Amino acid sequence: MSTTFTIDTATSRATPTPAPMKRLTVPAIQNHKVDGQTREPLVMLTAYTARQAQLLDPHCDMLLVGDSLGQVIYGLPSTLAVTLDMMCAHGAAVVRGSYHSVVVVDMPFGTYEASPAQAFASASRILAETGAAAVKLEGGQAMAETISFLSQRGIPVMAHIGLTPQAVNALGGYGARGKSEAEHAKILADAQAVTNAGAFALVLEGVMEDLADIITDSVTIPVIGIGASARCDGQVLVTEDMLGMFERTPRFVKRFDNIAEMIGNAAQRYAADVRSRAFPTPDQVYRPKK
Ligand code: KIV
Repeated sequence: MSTTFTIDTATSRATPTPAPMKRLTVPAIQNHKVDGQTREPLVMLTAYTARQAQLLDPHCDMLLVGDSLGQVIYGLPSTLAVTLDMMCAHGAAVVRGSYHSVVVVDMPFGTYEASPAQAFASASRILAETGAAAVKLEGGQAMAETISFLSQRGIPVMAHIGLTPQAVNALGGYGARGKSEAEHAKILADAQAVTNAGAFALVLEGVMEDLADIITDSVTIPVIGIGASARCDGQVLVTEDMLGMFERTPRFVKRFDNIAEMIGNAAQRYAADVRSRAFPTPDQVYRPKK
């Protein structure tokens, strides 16, 4: 008698069906922009769970395990209380659920700003524990030394400039940036600094469209816009925003579905069936075979 215990993975919800796809790489993403031009924009969405990653992966070039999970998954008021433990757990789940996209994991507030060495300790933990290909961190010129330190040590970095949600207290809110001449010049200088420091791509969030176009035209790395411009080299959205999970839709979001209504309606029908004993039916209970 065999002593080997085999789990019947065919019945496990957690076991994804491997898709015959080769995973994209960070250099492939960076080289997507050729001579300063991008023919077909890069597609990026946030993902926080394995199942969500399975569904999004075939349609995306990159999956971002954003620290927006603090608000979307954990109901926190901002991203500031998100921890490395949270990012590692969700990052690993998204890598397990994907085969094709480059997975990028956000570095949480307070885990990288103090020094390049602190950033290296946090980023190397993220990559080792999750299997993700890259990290993302917020900040421009102030983070250039750190971006250079990490990229020279084998850690691909996506920079995030413009509206940087981890700086909400300093910025005074989530309004669009780059309206004044001084801010316009600072964000442009940030884009150039992170490019020169070795970032493989940058997220440009919540800026005036003309500034987004100037940055897209002037840096060699892909510019992934969110609330920026249709001319960026790619676009990213929080998946739950584009699915219509929340009542409030920020101006820069296009809703591609109304999942909140679908979930509410399904829960209402389920509750009615349970209360009227219409569920479960004989098809949904176990009975001895005849
Ligand atoms: O955390 C996040 O989801 C992000 C995107 C909004 C770019 O940083």
